[in-house]
Amino acid sequence: MPRFDTVIVNGLVVTAADSAYYNIGIKDGKIEALAREFSSADLEGCEIIDAEGAYVMPGGIDGHVHLCQDLKTGPNKLGGRCSDNFETGSRSAAAGGTTTMVNFASQDRLDEADRSLIGVVQRYAARAQSTGSYIDYAFHVIITRNDPDVLQSELPVLVKEWGITSCKLFMTYDTMRLTDRQLLDVMVAARKNSVTTLIHAENGDAIEWLTEQLEARDMIAPYYHALSRPPLIEAEASNRAIALAQLVQNPILFVHIGSPMAAQNVREAQSRGLPIYAETCPQYFNLTWQDLKRFHSPTCFENSKMICSPPPPAEKNDHEALQRYLANGTFTIWSSDHCPFRYDDPDGKPAGVLEHAGSMQGESGDGHNPAAPCTSVYHEVPKEDLSRLLARKMGHFKHVPNGIPGVETRLPLLFSQGLLTGLISPSRFVELTSTNPAKLYGMYPQKGCLMPGSDADLVIWHPQATFKPFALSNSHLHHNVDYTPYEGQTLSNWPRYTMVRGKLIWSNGKIVGQLSHGNFVKRGPNSLHQRPQPFGTDLRNVATWL
Ligand SMILES: *[C@@H]1O[C@H](CO)[C@@H](O)[C@H](O)[C@H]1NC(C)=O
Ligand SMILES: *[C@@H]1O[C@H](CO)[C@@H](O)[C@H](O)[C@H]1NC(C)=O
Repeated sequence: MPRFDTVIVNGLVVTAADSAYYNIGIKDGKIEALAREFSSADLEGCEIIDAEGAYVMPGGIDGHVHLCQDLKTGPNKLGGRCSDNFETGSRSAAAGGTTTMVNFASQDRLDEADRSLIGVVQRYAARAQSTGSYIDYAFHVIITRNDPDVLQSELPVLVKEWGITSCKLFMTYDTMRLTDRQLLDVMVAARKNSVTTLIHAENGDAIEWLTEQLEARDMIAPYYHALSRPPLIEAEASNRAIALAQLVQNPILFVHIGSPMAAQNVREAQSRGLPIYAETCPQYFNLTWQDLKRFHSPTCFENSKMICSPPPPAEKNDHEALQRYLANGTFTIWSSDHCPFRYDDPDGKPAGVLEHAGSMQGESGDGHNPAAPCTSVYHEVPKEDLSRLLARKMGHFKHVPNGIPGVETRLPLLFSQGLLTGLISPSRFVELTSTNPAKLYGMYPQKGCLMPGSDADLVIWHPQATFKPFALSNSHLHHNVDYTPYEGQTLSNWPRYTMVRGKLIWSNGKIVGQLSHGNFVKRGPNSLHQRPQPFGTDLRNVATWL
């Protein structure tokens, strides 16, 4: 019997702690042994993967992926059709070096069948099972109601039987958001069950009010999406959520922080020793409001591909500020917020198509300039669909589904723009993309590290010296989306191998894995923060008597 199934040789192995050259022996899907070098007897009969000096890292863990989740956040339950399922989403993730994704199982507040959170999770689990997944996956449950009986009876079952140990709560979107008192109800229930609470922090009332004010002035082009939720809106909501979390002693993670102001709130809370965590995403490091000002017409609405909430930062200076928070530890995890909508689907991005580009109110940018048309070629909306769309008179940013794809580009963008530029170290890269999400979401040390006994989930990069930088194009990607917001950007490396539990899923530019390989991951509690009483006992800040 060979000692190993597979051995990785000649790799510069990087963990969240350090980097060193050693070999990794894999047996039955798990890491069996690490050694400076294995003997030739040890190597006999096993498959050998030569990393040729390249980085070998724990596989990427994407803590924020939307699949099979149509949006119902618009008027008349209209939102957007999610274009990726577990097959296309996991295929894209694997091609980008991700070995585990945490997806959302979303409770629809208006659908009584969704009152039961267990029912919600069962329905999403069935969607995953109906196609299978190339990589491992788990679920956060999105809670949009505060039914006390459900919280009391179902959260413990979700934790114990399903290993679902995280929930997401919204402070915005009419059909999803919880009021402050509802947030408190759910946070207390989450705390009692050690359920990590994710917060989408934007002030929904203020956004709706600003949207009405913009509408009244005919300021409805995609650019005004950003002005309907300027960074102050995220700063206010994150500040409020930190106070509520402190009051009821519940650790929280802010998803997709996109502004330096909100990051500063997180930093201050962390400095006070509070278990407040923050996620950020690639779209906040490369896109700006300028991208929302591109030319817009019924057949050219590239700017809508940048619409996500919170919106990208106003300008490049904001990227630099966010980079400092990324480098110095304020941000806990780097996720994609992959939320896929197509261009050629009338219920995708074109849902907010404008009849004319005339609502830019004299803004600079190419918003007014039909001579600067689409810079890349996208599928056009079929004519009959277009007339149907225009008949709806919905030329309005508020009808563009919020969200952009990115599960595949998450690691390569940070590798090129963070690691290779020296902004972050290789170990910080691993911490942000794998180890911290594993700890935060209760999968460590099964995942997120390379210890003997851990799952053999790996991403192996190309040797840097011989890799030729290339311009990214959507045709390189494996999602079911007809654009990438990062079209044309230069990438200086790409995952060469992605391995999930000892099996190669992606190898030298090809999907080689099986759709039946991905497993549902049962998770435990957050292991990032284990200080006793991190919130203190001061009755001025904390309701210790609860
Ligand atoms: C986005 O990243 C690319 C590098 O691939 C860089 O050239 C470009 O300036 C960046 N854009 C912004 C607005 O930061
Ligand atoms: C991290 O960087 C931000 C932005 O420059 C700064 O405000 C903050 O104090 C820094 N935190 C630490 C711990 O260095």
